[in-house]
Amino acid sequence: MTGIWQDIKLDSEHKLPLYKQISEQVEKMVYQGKLKPGTRLPAERKLADYLQVSRMTITLANEDMKTKGIIRSQQGSGTFIMRGPRRERVHTKTKWQSNFVYETDTMNHGLEAIIKFGQNSESIQLARAGTAPEIHPGIGISECLAECLRKHPKLIQLPSPTQGYEPLHSYMLEWLKESELYPKKSEMMIVSGAMQGLDLISRLFLGPGDYVIVEEPGFQVASDAFTASGAQILRITLDKEGMKLDNLEQLLRNFPVKFIYLNPTFHNPTGITMSQKRRQDLLVLAKKYHVLIIEDDPTGLLYYGKKPAPPLKARDEEGMIIYIRSFSKYLFPELRVGVLVAPEGVITNLTKIKQRIDLHSNVLTQAAVYTFLSEGRLTPHLQRVRKAYKVRVDMVQEALSKSKAVSVQVPEGGIFAWCKLEHGLSSERLLDLALPDVSLVPGNWMSGTGMYENYFRLAFTNPSLEQLKRGLNKIVEIIDREDMKT
Ligand SMILES: Cc1ncc(COP(=O)(O)O)c(C=O)c1O
Repeated sequence: MTGIWQDIKLDSEHKLPLYKQISEQVEKMVYQGKLKPGTRLPAERKLADYLQVSRMTITLANEDMKTKGIIRSQQGSGTFIMRGPRRERVHTKTKWQSNFVYETDTMNHGLEAIIKFGQNSESIQLARAGTAPEIHPGIGISECLAECLRKHPKLIQLPSPTQGYEPLHSYMLEWLKESELYPKKSEMMIVSGAMQGLDLISRLFLGPGDYVIVEEPGFQVASDAFTASGAQILRITLDKEGMKLDNLEQLLRNFPVKFIYLNPTFHNPTGITMSQKRRQDLLVLAKKYHVLIIEDDPTGLLYYGKKPAPPLKARDEEGMIIYIRSFSKYLFPELRVGVLVAPEGVITNLTKIKQRIDLHSNVLTQAAVYTFLSEGRLTPHLQRVRKAYKVRVDMVQEALSKSKAVSVQVPEGGIFAWCKLEHGLSSERLLDLALPDVSLVPGNWMSGTGMYENYFRLAFTNPSLEQLKRGLNKIVEIIDREDMKT
């Protein structure tokens, strides 16, 4: 065995145990960019022979690196490097860490970085999902809140029901019918954003030893919510029709999977919408293996051409799907209002958990959303959003078509463009060169195994049109400049 592993030098006299020496040296190579995300580690036995240590030493080193989030084992295919060099480690003097049960180091580090980029107001934000200034409904929502408080001044003195502000709850039941969803009152609850729904589901359904299947690449924050309860994540890639079902069946046959988490319409980050046929086949498989489905649908109403198929939940005859919709992308994320549809017994239990962690939910934003909806403002607003975002999608396509070194999967809806670097430039390198002027999300940040490093995700809804244009031009300029060097 040759290559990078030759660089690991061990000293049996050193006070650091051998497994720690291996772990630290691999970690250093990852941060220095010498070991790329997606690199496969040699088999334990092979590496043990090569380094002349016991196999147990390698097992311990691997465990240590897993805990730090440097590597991840993929059942059946090996162990892979998963972190890029951007991660910063926080050193504190406290001894609290030894009491922690949840290793937050194993969380996907992309979210922290995206939030950090968002705090730089000088920078053009193409990493962060946010609402475009020309259609931002902030003023409308604040008018609705004022109006609601004027009409119902007692609102701020009343307790907030855990299942949601009653008028909004009732209104939602009607509104969801437009998407062919017909929950009863007891089958729906308001949540503080989709993320809270996912967190509640994780707490109710998952524990150590449970498995969850997710899309790869995908929304890693959801996977983090599931692993927080001790679950293990299995990943399935997508083709143009959505999650690959032959791989899914293989996993369902071999693992006791609790649920499949899916974002089947305008998937984050690829923009792919699961085909009708795939949807039908998925439901057949889920029924065959008695597995639940969590359908996350934050952008299904943001289509730029043909309206997509109704949610999977609309075809749920067995009561095996939990459906989550959020207002974050329709109005704005800071509102923290979403809706969760599930069988009654699930809602009752999720409500109990929500009472413990979100004792008095923010009824004011729910009341504002209710007024916005009941005054009939949402439909014309969504029409404006679709139109505005279509202009932006076209801008992304036009700007990126100027370079031969990048291609873009043009989305038919949603808020992200999934772009591919064609000639070997890594997207983390692109990000390094684009910052601090422009931010974007490297593809490997959207992957549970550090793959897709030649892809990047552009959120085209956040900046002004003028900034978007400048940001896109800057990205194309960097890509072409780097391409000339190769
Ligand atoms: C697929 C997906 N689910 C959930 C969320 C989070 O939604 P919320 O702001 O409602 O918590 C996002 C945010 O980008 C997302 O892309």
